[in-house]
Amino acid sequence: MKLTFEGHACFSIEASGVNLLVDPFITGNPLAVKKVEDFRPDVILLTHGHHDHLGDALTIARRCGATIAAQVDLLNALDTEGIDTVAFNLGGCTVVRGIHLIMVPAWHGSTVSTPEGPRYGGVACGFVIEHEDGNLYHAGDTALFGDMGMVIERYQIGCALLPIGDFYTMGPKDAVTAAKWLKAKYVIPMHYNTFPIIQQDVEAFRREVDEKTDSSCVVLTPGESWELCLSKS
Ligand code: NI
Ligand code: MN
Repeated sequence: MKLTFEGHACFSIEASGVNLLVDPFITGNPLAVKKVEDFRPDVILLTHGHHDHLGDALTIARRCGATIAAQVDLLNALDTEGIDTVAFNLGGCTVVRGIHLIMVPAWHGSTVSTPEGPRYGGVACGFVIEHEDGNLYHAGDTALFGDMGMVIERYQIGCALLPIGDFYTMGPKDAVTAAKWLKAKYVIPMHYNTFPIIQQDVEAFRREVDEKTDSSCVVLTPGESWELCLSKS
């Protein structure tokens, strides 16, 4: 499974020849290195409706025929006419284009901005992508919560993508605790340094994870790719 960090909480994931794109915030993302036109995903996953996650999802899906998989109330709040959607909900498992997805809880809000004002966007979520190379957990925007250790840990996470920016989500200290509870082989920080208010010392976070948890921290710069391959190691 190949992951490419696209900046903020956006990741391109290639798994068994299927291209997934999580939270495609490209327009207005100061960390984005690609253009909206550069993305041709088969599947788009959305963790919630905030603009820095929904991003360019509808534009990309319309252009390349991607399926959007997201929480049912979020999809109800969006104009998805002409777009193939998979509207599932927390705790649900589904298979989209051969990829096994589980929607897991996140503690966060979810409104969608519309010309008429903010619209209820359901509950925020994270995703577990189950794959033979190792299971991937994208936490979305979330606070630290105990079910990371009780519910999500059961999926034997190979790699956890965790927000560390603080202010809108958990900060580095809680993300280290999340890493302890999740027992993932690898942890990749996200949702930091995009805006001044979520500026963090990522090298300090890396040291803390490496010293205080059993996980290895992988820091990706925007545009950088990394391979998750636990089956060969
Ligand atoms: Ni958010
Ligand atoms: Mn966010």
